[in-house]
Amino acid sequence: MNKRKILVTSALPYANGSIHLGHLVEYIQTDIWVRFQKMRGHAVYYVCADDTHGTPIMLRAEKEGITPEALITRVHAEHLRDFTGFYIQFDNYYSTHSPETRHFSEDIYNKLKAAGLIAVRGIEQLYDPVKNMFLPDRFVKGECPKCSAKDQYGDSCEVCGAAYAPTELKNPYSAVSGAKPINKSSEHYFFSLSDKRCADFLRQWTCEGDHLQPEAANKMREWLGEAGENKLSDWDISRDAPYFGFEIPGASGKYFYVWLDAPIGYMGSFKNLCERENINFDEYWQLQSDAELYHFIGKDILYFHALFWPAMLQNAGYRTPTKIFAHGFLTVNGEKMSKSRGTFITAESYLKQGLNPEWLRYYYAAKLNSTLEDIDLNLEDFVARVNSDLIGKFINIASRCAGFITKRFGGKLVAGEQYQALQAMVDEHFSSWRPDAIEQAFEDREFSAAIRQIMKFADEANEMIHTLAPWEIAKQPDCADDLHRASSLGIQLFYLLSCYLKPILPGTVQQIEAFLYCEPLTWPQLGADQSVSSLLLPAGHAINAYQHLMTRIEAKQIDALIAANRQSLTAPEPGSPARHAEKQQHTGVAAIPIAETISIDDFSKIDLRVARIVNAEHVEGAEKLLKLTLDIGNEQRTVFAGIKSAYDPEKLIGRLTVMVANLAPRKMKFGLSEGMVLAAGGGNPSELFILSPDSGAHPGMRIK
Ligand code: 2FM
Ligand code: ZN
Repeated sequence: MNKRKILVTSALPYANGSIHLGHLVEYIQTDIWVRFQKMRGHAVYYVCADDTHGTPIMLRAEKEGITPEALITRVHAEHLRDFTGFYIQFDNYYSTHSPETRHFSEDIYNKLKAAGLIAVRGIEQLYDPVKNMFLPDRFVKGECPKCSAKDQYGDSCEVCGAAYAPTELKNPYSAVSGAKPINKSSEHYFFSLSDKRCADFLRQWTCEGDHLQPEAANKMREWLGEAGENKLSDWDISRDAPYFGFEIPGASGKYFYVWLDAPIGYMGSFKNLCERENINFDEYWQLQSDAELYHFIGKDILYFHALFWPAMLQNAGYRTPTKIFAHGFLTVNGEKMSKSRGTFITAESYLKQGLNPEWLRYYYAAKLNSTLEDIDLNLEDFVARVNSDLIGKFINIASRCAGFITKRFGGKLVAGEQYQALQAMVDEHFSSWRPDAIEQAFEDREFSAAIRQIMKFADEANEMIHTLAPWEIAKQPDCADDLHRASSLGIQLFYLLSCYLKPILPGTVQQIEAFLYCEPLTWPQLGADQSVSSLLLPAGHAINAYQHLMTRIEAKQIDALIAANRQSLTAPEPGSPARHAEKQQHTGVAAIPIAETISIDDFSKIDLRVARIVNAEHVEGAEKLLKLTLDIGNEQRTVFAGIKSAYDPEKLIGRLTVMVANLAPRKMKFGLSEGMVLAAGGGNPSELFILSPDSGAHPGMRIK
């Protein structure tokens, strides 16, 4: 076999947000591909890091009253914990705030400068005179110049979709201090992407060498324009102090823009690994390197990876990527992930709710292919698919056959003539079980095709076991040979399926390796003249007793997960990493004046209690009301609440909320309402949010 040298990266997550199921599409996709290549015996390194620089991280740390260094250290540990929980196995998970990334950022910058590709120009930008800082677009808000919607960001309007410059906003204000920004000019450093050398190189790079998926290459052609046309603008790579990042050499008070050093973080992380493990860095990054370099990314950051990054590398004398693999976004139940619907699910909460990370790895794999199409996590389908494929078709093979081997045959699979008979059976009935097609599908990142193939094999195995029915054979007298062969066949087929599923289910397959008492499974290699039976475990191989391998998903676990992630809608912090998530609508809540001051005695007259919604139902003839039955510890109350426009009654049952328990009962058209539940709202009927106490509160607890 020709041993390939492969360096793989996933996009670096920002160091100011949690990992969520949207992020995990990419890390799971990459990890499956890397594990597959490692199983085949190639030399593969998978590196990543936290993307630590920029204004949002600086301001977030300030808000928390800690240094940016302390923030990024904490988030690094959280990210690594989440990735490890989902079996994402990096060879190095580092940080862009590192000496190695600083070194390569300066090195690349100096080389671009020496090549005459750095230009300095004055530009005018909005400046916060209170915070004394220039404001990135996302930190300026105001009225949309097109539709006059209030509180829109400086780059685009979330109401009418218009894109504009922050200077076009009406009545702009700083999202940091609230001050009215002023125009101020300063010198910025630009990477001269409009230089003919860059455009010529990128045009050639896009067309030759199959570096991009077809849809991505088309996008690039659109960005580059026709030959002779120069559509690329220079790229502003500097930011003024205060900024959390690397200062530009020879330019005091100027910092590299976060997107300059982010991809350089791939090199920094790999360099750090090379130092630790004595790997030759240059072999992977020098011009003419024979190593392969792959970047897995989301389609939203193609511009940075397919234009800026190769142009930077090329002009600084480094090799360029072999391929960029972009994927689509995640939708949940066909919609953007949503905090109010509880589908903006963090990796941490998924694990904390006790859901098996391999269920998600399997489901994503079943949906992933090599295109930029979005993938949908349909929660009902998730439950059905995992239970039917993993438990029903895969795990069950072992659980149905292993007991006979352990109890009747001393833990040993068939040997001698029986083994030959088993081999003949495999070659007769399972000759299509060659690894070739699955191998090609994994190589091409056509994971859904790989899974279809593997599950077809699993169906065939189950049919055979069903026909042989070892549990029936066991009832016959003098059945030992037949029973031994049938149950050994089941285990041998289970072993082969485990090899094929190992890149997707590394944790379960590790347990399977212990059960089958064998070396870590590698990718089955089959010469053209060899038959499938040569892939089997050896004759007379001894296995361990079967231990439980995986449980079924219960629909109620999904309900609990959604409930745990449901949040009332609050405005995200400016610049927060809301990638792949719904954009939030703002209703100008701040404009409602605060009510007249009351005394503590006034307040304490209101008896607020934690209540559990034990029942919720529609009220016939009522447009806005739901009828709630609330448990407040030692009694139950009926409350008619005007929340029908925002809530499905079934989804409320079981939730804790807050009620006013001493409000005089009100006789309504539909019955007596014995209190009131509390909800926040901005006027729009679908924007209603009932309150929930933190977990641990009990019905009846008084709220003070
Ligand atoms: O979009 C993002 O989440 C960025 N933090 C990705 C950076 S990828 C690479 F360039 F570092
Ligand atoms: Zn607008």
